[in-house]
Amino acid sequence: TMATAAGLGTALLSGCGSQQFITMGDLASDYNKEIFWMSIWAIALSILIFVGVSYALFYTVGRFREDRNDAAPQQFHGNNRLETWLVVVPVIIVMVLSVLTVRSMAILNPVPAEATKIDVLGRQFWWNFAYPETKADAGGNVTNGNEMIMPIGEQVALTITSGDVIHGFWAPNIGGQRAAMPATLRSWNVDINRAGVYQGNCTQLCGASHANMRYKVVALEPERYASFLAAAKAYRAPEPAAGSAEARGYALFMQGKPETGALACAACHRVQGTPAAGVAGPDLSFFGTRRTLGAGMWEFMEPENHWETPRAREILHEWIKHSPLVKPGSLMPTYDGSEYRANGKLVKGGILTDAELDDVAAYLRSLKLPEEANYWSGTP
Ligand code: CUA
Repeated sequence: TMATAAGLGTALLSGCGSQQFITMGDLASDYNKEIFWMSIWAIALSILIFVGVSYALFYTVGRFREDRNDAAPQQFHGNNRLETWLVVVPVIIVMVLSVLTVRSMAILNPVPAEATKIDVLGRQFWWNFAYPETKADAGGNVTNGNEMIMPIGEQVALTITSGDVIHGFWAPNIGGQRAAMPATLRSWNVDINRAGVYQGNCTQLCGASHANMRYKVVALEPERYASFLAAAKAYRAPEPAAGSAEARGYALFMQGKPETGALACAACHRVQGTPAAGVAGPDLSFFGTRRTLGAGMWEFMEPENHWETPRAREILHEWIKHSPLVKPGSLMPTYDGSEYRANGKLVKGGILTDAELDDVAAYLRSLKLPEEANYWSGTP
């Protein structure tokens, strides 16, 4: 049994890979700490009420059992003292909870002027994280798809919205959750005091790939965050060498292949420092640095050259070829001629050959931040 237990323990731990446990009780976040103590108060008061009510119930049932009493209990109508208590006690409980709630709100809500700001955009079925006011040298704001990089030890001011339906933004370790609503900006301050990688999810049923709408929160020491941001601001997508696979991929990425109906990736995706400025799909500026694909459907956590493993290469190839086939509801066109849904209608995708798909993949893999700004390096 010991061996089984140990084996199970190892299996559970390795099942989580290098990722942090997902927990709302992670007190490495001041937000969670505040909510945790609020919950303790609410639970304590609930237990008090439960015990009181149970006691009164069982006492009454036991005390006035028919077989123990010859006569019916004393009958009376109205009891001012009892009724006063029945009003006063719940009012006191509600007041205690209100004061605690207002106190927590006052602590959690003000946004320090110098707080790091991140704009969160939920779409079917991915996330974009933009750093407003960062003004990249190549134009636009620094933006990353599906991987949110934040500094530790300070409040981070999120502004959350949706580009289509209602999504739910939830990374348990950094606190509660917020709805991402179309045409609505919701602000929310979060914080975490321990560097690491945390799991985020969409918590609002939003369509076929609701379950495939995950993200990572990568929390960095302030110096490492600063070096990430500096490099991200200065970043221009590397220019591929003439005649290389990356250069052929770049051309396909920017222009597609009109003679086979293959659409340009650039129409929907942005790559900082290139003419690609599409906003219909996730930002791909740092694609080669990212370790997740398809909004967390796949993770590639190999410490080095994670995109070069046979598994990663195959999945990326299949992804570009026909992402709606591997991720239900994905709005990306297909590149193998199979049907996909565009503006509510089924249409046939254009065609890229396997070699051309590999060229596009090679270009995507080359979109890397400089090593000192690789936010994954050294993460547990
Ligand atoms: Cu987005 Cu569920």
